Amino acid sequence: MASVPSLSASLEQRVTSALTAAVPSAEGVDPLLRRSDRADFQANGVLGLAKRAKANPKELAAQVLAALPTDELIAAVEVSGPGFLNLTVADAAITANLARRLDDDRLGVPSAPDPGITVIDYAQPNVAKEMHVGHLRSSVIGDALAKILRFTGESVVARHHIGDWGTNFGMLVQYLVEHPHELDHAPDTGGTGGAADGEASMSRLNRLYKASRTVFDADEDFKERARRRVVDLQAGDKETLALWQRLVDESKIYFYSVYDKLDIEIRDEDIVGESGYNDMLVETCKLLEDSGVAVRSNGALCVFFDDIKGKDGEPVPLIVQKADGGFGYPATDLSAVRDRTGNLHATTLLYVVDARQALHFRMVFETARRAGWLTEEVVVKHVPFGTVLGKDGRPFKTRDGESVRLEDLLDEAVSRATAVVREKGEKIGLTDEEITANGEQVGIGAVKYADLSTSLGRDYVFDLDRMVSLNGDTSVYIQYAYARSRSILRKAAAGQQPVAHPELALAPAERALGLHLDAFGDALAEVAVSYEPHRLASYLFQLASLYTTFYEQCPVLTAEEGPAVVDNRLFLVELTARTLQRGLGLLGIRTPERL
Ligand code: ARG
Repeated sequence: MASVPSLSASLEQRVTSALTAAVPSAEGVDPLLRRSDRADFQANGVLGLAKRAKANPKELAAQVLAALPTDELIAAVEVSGPGFLNLTVADAAITANLARRLDDDRLGVPSAPDPGITVIDYAQPNVAKEMHVGHLRSSVIGDALAKILRFTGESVVARHHIGDWGTNFGMLVQYLVEHPHELDHAPDTGGTGGAADGEASMSRLNRLYKASRTVFDADEDFKERARRRVVDLQAGDKETLALWQRLVDESKIYFYSVYDKLDIEIRDEDIVGESGYNDMLVETCKLLEDSGVAVRSNGALCVFFDDIKGKDGEPVPLIVQKADGGFGYPATDLSAVRDRTGNLHATTLLYVVDARQALHFRMVFETARRAGWLTEEVVVKHVPFGTVLGKDGRPFKTRDGESVRLEDLLDEAVSRATAVVREKGEKIGLTDEEITANGEQVGIGAVKYADLSTSLGRDYVFDLDRMVSLNGDTSVYIQYAYARSRSILRKAAAGQQPVAHPELALAPAERALGLHLDAFGDALAEVAVSYEPHRLASYLFQLASLYTTFYEQCPVLTAEEGPAVVDNRLFLVELTARTLQRGLGLLGIRTPERL
């Protein structure tokens, strides 16, 4: 494993030294190096520095230019505009740097120098309930963040905070007590753990849910029995807990089948639902009350905030314990914070949860800070996502106004994608099995990519036509770029192989592709600090686009310039393929070899 500094990082270092050479007090000034259309890079930091040093920016730029070393990295530098520096990197430096990347398993991407422990709360469906598009977003974004952070060397702990507790379970368990065979499995569906089992589990749970709800709404006596059942559940009554556990287990069969379809790995030990914090709730409240962080108000235990008020101007508290003694969502989340910092020793806490819960998390984090469960050293962040919209621009619903079943969406995406890949697949002689496998990877990839390429907190329209389109900002487009590069590598003749030739001058499309390939690690580093996977998505889309231009402008196997150029281009093709594969992999998207 050899980490390879990017050209832009090396350049930045040189410009920084030149800035300090020109103005000694410039120590620590950001040279503001950016990619540019005029040269490869532009450094804009001179302007601010000139202002501070009361110097003429053009003259200062000339001084900095003079202080820049002429070496193997910088081919040309000039002053432009009011005092910008335009920098051109030497072709040989680009190729040599890329060669070092191809040599490395991690494509030269460095590991974090000081990795911490990040606990990510994501993929949190609710027991006995169908998964919907909101659960899709949390799962897809959380999984990508987990993969990216792990790749940077961070220790990542997943926590799936499933909804497995609350008053509803009194109703469900009581119904099970009175109808003990509702969850029995037919003997012939002996459990292959596949999609059919998952669907069967969900329909059993749905039936149970609907039936118990009907009785609950119609029968006052049942309602009362259900209420008492909640008390038994909270008191840890054995029989009640066992029946509750059956509901959880049945739901997990369903969850796993959906996650399997989504190609997301969920480990049983990482599922720590709301119930997992039951033992801590009383203590959490006591600690808050004893320390004065929370106070009793009309019987409820509340935390107040100066800056959080309702429409009527009255303060809106976080209710940690209700007046009837019950605990809700806040007490559970506060206990989870204690567990994650105190027991798991997290240095970062991430919550991949619907943007509409922003206020809840703001109050929980602030409370945890006051209580000392979150110290200065711990980074805590709500990673919000927006709503998935239908084509009409309103929250995605079926025609009868029900929320759309996640599985139906995924199935439809796969069937659309299969139709798209079948046409080309048949032309290149793929078997039916290969087409089916590609259809799954393309369809699931399309759903994930549409989600991940949307910036955090924003809504997006679920439009399968757009998602599986071969043109435009889609995963299919990127997957095709990958497959095309693999096809070129397979077609190379015996004497043709990917070998870097730094001595060769690069064509414009080669330089543009090369400079972007070199920036892979920088793009990942940005995601790792911003927790914004869409930055990686847009990096990859751009890479695929630059590769397409290169492919159109620079013949690879038939390059007329000679065998060295063929090999050097094959080398660029191979590095592109590996970067696309690694990058999509970090987003949880597969790369079929032949499409
Ligand atoms: N189960 C909840 C839902 O479906 C999301 C849980 C979010 N995580 C948390 N720690 N509160 O909306």
